Amino acid sequence: MAASDTAQVTSVEHLLASKELVVICGSGGVGKTTTAAAAGAMAAAHLGGKVLVLTVDPARRLATALGLEAFGNKETQVPRDLFTEAGVTPRGELWAAMLDTKQSWDDLVRRHAPDPETRDAILANPLYNNITGKFVQSHDYIAMERLHDLHASGRYDLVIVDTPPTRNAIDFLEAPERMADFFSSRLLRWLTVPARSRILSTASKPFYTVADRILGSQFLADIAEFFILFQTMYDGFVQRAEAVQRTLESECTTFVVVSTLEPAPAHEAEFFLKALAERDLNLGGLVLNKVLPDYLLDPQTGALAERLADQSASVAEALVAADGDVGEAKAVARVLGEVADSYANFRVVATREAEQKARLSNRPEVVATVPYLDSDVADLAGLLDLGTRLWS
Ligand SMILES: Nc1ncnc2c1ncn2[C@@H]1O[C@H](COP(=O)(O)OP(=O)(O)OP(=O)(O)O)[C@@H](O)[C@H]1O
Ligand SMILES: [Mg+2]
Repeated sequence: MAASDTAQVTSVEHLLASKELVVICGSGGVGKTTTAAAAGAMAAAHLGGKVLVLTVDPARRLATALGLEAFGNKETQVPRDLFTEAGVTPRGELWAAMLDTKQSWDDLVRRHAPDPETRDAILANPLYNNITGKFVQSHDYIAMERLHDLHASGRYDLVIVDTPPTRNAIDFLEAPERMADFFSSRLLRWLTVPARSRILSTASKPFYTVADRILGSQFLADIAEFFILFQTMYDGFVQRAEAVQRTLESECTTFVVVSTLEPAPAHEAEFFLKALAERDLNLGGLVLNKVLPDYLLDPQTGALAERLADQSASVAEALVAADGDVGEAKAVARVLGEVADSYANFRVVATREAEQKARLSNRPEVVATVPYLDSDVADLAGLLDLGTRLWS
């Protein structure tokens, strides 16, 4: 896209203009999916080119905002009309797809299975569905895998990838490496031993006899078959995992960390920023989301709120008309007192947020602050509105 890599990147707009892959990460519920969609909508509207947002489990309202009734792995174009209805003539195209883990695993198996028989046997294996659904880092790996795939396809100028709500945001950075490790692991070899050779070693025989009794021999046979079949895909998988890793490390890829300023997510964001630096991965920017407004920090309004709390009774008297009764004045005084207290509480939180922000902001060059919005994003106009705050 437009700007060159050497130009200084000072905003999310510049960042998206200079990269081809953007990975949006952060802890659960901070606004990753919303940020990914808003960034994609802005890029399609103002930068041009073909932009794809790969989302994970978007809220129904968000999917509807993108004009997508049901979107799965298949990439779908967001109707141009939605942009014009929102008062914007888009320079490019916005596409969206969802990360369907199960379907993506099936595609991987189809790609890597050595022959049609093995492919069908894996897909039909009773453990396969279960395991791909619950595989450690299965979602993480698939997210990275699809990112690599879509980028390599060359169909898009910019791919923005939302990441799954991981317990630990570091997990998916390591997913490709772990996948490669898993396929070459001793554990996998060990698991496949009993079925490869029915002659069990004396040492492991008691284990399998007990396991057989508890789990049933069919279960063990299914496990063994599954792993043996899976191992036939070893080379393909390891090569892929390495290619995915290279894509993550490449110059055209950047990571954007999203966080709120609450202590736990902010702490995790800090940890994540450090982890990216340690891995020499490109940190593009930090998005601080759902931030309280700056005016709460203004000492003058703070002093006003304190005065209101102290003098709520006299202010109430002045407000209630001369013929208003005493009860009414008291009620108004209570409301004013509560409002002033509540303002003071918000001020305390905003002050803590500002401290947190100062701590986090000293690392990345691009820091965008998005305020806490009163209403959920319901349409493309809402998404572009949020995106505008992200942009500058
Ligand atoms: N700036 C904002 N102001 C108010 N609400 C917001 C803001 N950003 C996001 N939200 C709301 O917060 C909720 C969580 O957002 P979102 O789904 O984007 O988070 P997420 O990080 O993707 O969550 P998960 O980790 O579960 O995938 C949604 O209801 C979304 O509409
Ligand atoms: Mg999400």
